[in-house]
Amino acid sequence: MPKKMLSSIILCLFFIHIISGEAELQPGFYSKTCPEAESTVREIMKKAMIRETRSAASVMRLQFHDCFVNGCDGSVLLDDTPTMLGEKLALSNINSLRSFEVIDEIKDGLEKICPQIVSCADIIIMAARDAVALSGGPDWEVRLGRKDSLYASQEDSDNIMPSPRANASSLIDLFAKFDLSIEDLVSLSGSHSIGQGRCFSIMFRLYNQSGSGKPDPAIEPHYRKELNKLCPVGGDENVTGNLDATPALFDNQYFKDLVSGRGFLNSDETLYTFEETRKWVVKFSRDQQAFFDEFVKGMLKMGDLQSGQPGEVRRNCRVVNNPKSCDKLPLLTF
Ligand code: HEM
Ligand SMILES: *[C@@H]1O[C@H](CO)[C@@H](O)[C@H](O)[C@H]1NC(C)=O
Ligand SMILES: *[C@@H]1O[C@H](CO)[C@@H](O)[C@H](O)[C@H]1NC(C)=O
Ligand SMILES: *[C@@H]1O[C@H](CO)[C@@H](O)[C@H](O)[C@H]1NC(C)=O
Repeated sequence: MPKKMLSSIILCLFFIHIISGEAELQPGFYSKTCPEAESTVREIMKKAMIRETRSAASVMRLQFHDCFVNGCDGSVLLDDTPTMLGEKLALSNINSLRSFEVIDEIKDGLEKICPQIVSCADIIIMAARDAVALSGGPDWEVRLGRKDSLYASQEDSDNIMPSPRANASSLIDLFAKFDLSIEDLVSLSGSHSIGQGRCFSIMFRLYNQSGSGKPDPAIEPHYRKELNKLCPVGGDENVTGNLDATPALFDNQYFKDLVSGRGFLNSDETLYTFEETRKWVVKFSRDQQAFFDEFVKGMLKMGDLQSGQPGEVRRNCRVVNNPKSCDKLPLLTF
């Protein structure tokens, strides 16, 4: 490549970088401004898990739902306002996304020791990491320095977040849009090693897969009987079931379950049914360390997604600091 061309590309990248307002993320970002930040987050996460084990899964899921919708910017935490429909009531989140109060508790703890230093977006990233580590999974260093968004969009969430009905090929395409590979898709789906899902999310595959009037043939018969009992036709679809056989432990049981036809969601079992994803499922089912290593890489990559929009450090994760000024943002008026 000619030297001149190269330097103009570099100049251009530099320029985009400035005007898009992307933050430079780095490990230990708060080591000077709030040295107790990371230990405080872990301490509060630990207490939350003693009160309710499942809060680990619910908090970790927030990273996925925050980062995929306009980057990791804490947008998922914003409550609706009269002029803004946020993400909390979006299709994938309503009656499902939970443990917002744990994030509030962490924010309160941090505001006490270092007011308006640590962003809500970074709190999600730290708490998600801690949730995994405290559930028996890997521990890792996170890059920090994100800003919180000034808006949230229910529409964007509805357009982006995948359905539990999704097949592997549509999931591969979705993840590719975020520069996440097939291996990232499979390892990150291993997050379903902890937590629960609702009958609502699996009724179709139990009774009417792809409109066939029949169950998904990939479900192992004994497991299907269990699920039929948990989720009968006409029953309460808010009842929840475990996403794998060891829902409190972050391990590779999830992948072993997929291999034996015991995946809870269609979007889980499809990873074993499809050729392109199967080899990773099999690999992770046999090698927990390989799963942990890839999962950490995936969480870091997902955590690097940014919107490039201007941001702030919110005082309260549920509202922007100056709601009035936000009304002027053109983004809110489309
Ligand atoms: C690959 C596409 C994915 C789909 C289609 C998907 C879908 C779902 C669905 C439908 C539920 C159950 C919700 C309900 O019934 O209320 C769920 C739960 C969960 N998801 Fe995902 N998910 C995906 C990827 C991810 C990723 C990448 C993560 C995190 C890294 C994640 C973390 C979780 C966790 C931890 C739970 C359990 C939450 C709890 O117990 O409160 N998911 N997911
Ligand atoms: C996967 O799902 C997409 C979207 O629903 C659909 O268009 C496609 O035909 C499906 N692919 C396969 C191979 O089933
Ligand atoms: C199954 O789904 C198809 C297509 O979505 C629908 O036409 C049919 O009525 C459904 N059957 C039942 C029993 O719900
Ligand atoms: C689940 O519970 C919520 C809140 O209590 C309720 O509004 C909703 O209708 C229920 N959904 C289903 C599918 O039963």
